Amino acid sequence: MNKKTLKNISQPIEHALEDFSSHFNDAMKSDVFLVDMVAKYILKQKGKRVRPLLVLLSSEICGGVNERSLRGATLVELLHTATLVHDDVVDSSEKRRGLPSINAVWKNKIAVLMGDYLLSKGLMQAVNENDFDFLKIITDTVRRMSEGELLQIGKTRKLDIDEKTYFRIISDKTASLLSTCCEIGARAATEDEQKIEAMRDFGENLGMAFQIRDDILDYVGKTNIIGKPLGGDIKEKKITLPLIFAMSKAKNGEVEKIKKLIKKSRKSGKVQEIFDFVNKYDGIDYADNLAVEYAEKALENITEFKDSEVKEALTGLVDFVIKRIK
Ligand code: IPE
Ligand code: MG
Ligand code: MG
Repeated sequence: MNKKTLKNISQPIEHALEDFSSHFNDAMKSDVFLVDMVAKYILKQKGKRVRPLLVLLSSEICGGVNERSLRGATLVELLHTATLVHDDVVDSSEKRRGLPSINAVWKNKIAVLMGDYLLSKGLMQAVNENDFDFLKIITDTVRRMSEGELLQIGKTRKLDIDEKTYFRIISDKTASLLSTCCEIGARAATEDEQKIEAMRDFGENLGMAFQIRDDILDYVGKTNIIGKPLGGDIKEKKITLPLIFAMSKAKNGEVEKIKKLIKKSRKSGKVQEIFDFVNKYDGIDYADNLAVEYAEKALENITEFKDSEVKEALTGLVDFVIKRIK
């Protein structure tokens, strides 16, 4: 299939996405000046909006977008935005989406409170609208995302992480939300549990591919496109799939040497030698192949749906996720 952009993937639900945008903008409003100012800044740092897109496409393939789909899309994007604002505090990250992060502009205190604010706005909307099924799903997702991040921090300290743990971390911290987007979108449109499960699995597999690709981008991405410098994960001592694989192939002395370099990398700023090590053992290719495997599983999850424009969009999204450069 030819390469699709997010814009043409969105085609079948273009209007719904516009409705989502106004829903989302409304949800971000506040009569507290500071909150409103930070919220406006966040809206300026516009992301890819992959999660609302997933909600809406999942609704569409399961029967059609409705008001609940729009609320679901708003809920997941609010939660996603909250986690990004918090994540930049956790990682002391200065940039997000090509602009200075909230913590860089307003300091940690405001970023932490703002993240809480966004999450509570999402949950409150679900309560007010009686979307208790969404609430039940999303609260468990929030738990998994925090647990995944904490597991990663625990492992980071010791620099010893195996593939199995890596997969658990990325499933909890990233795939869980993408899976939830698909489930919520499906639930808004149908009661057919088989369809809902198919979409949930689709989201999980897509999410795994998405995070593996994200981790690869820390090695091969272009700093000006992604808005973050390369090697950021290494400097945070975050060991992801390309490096895990290279370490599993390397000789013992080599691993010790690399671990020392990782520990020093934040201060020294030197990551090239670690990049060379990963390339020597084809760590990027290995990770790439696994991302493709998950993408193929995702495609399998939706084979039961009949061919349509929406199904083509979902297929295009799978392709986008494993090829994306930002
Ligand atoms: C970033 O997600 C966090 C991860 C789970 C890798 P996105 O890459 O979807 O971020 P935005 O919303 O487009 O900025
Ligand atoms: Mg982080
Ligand atoms: Mg990353």
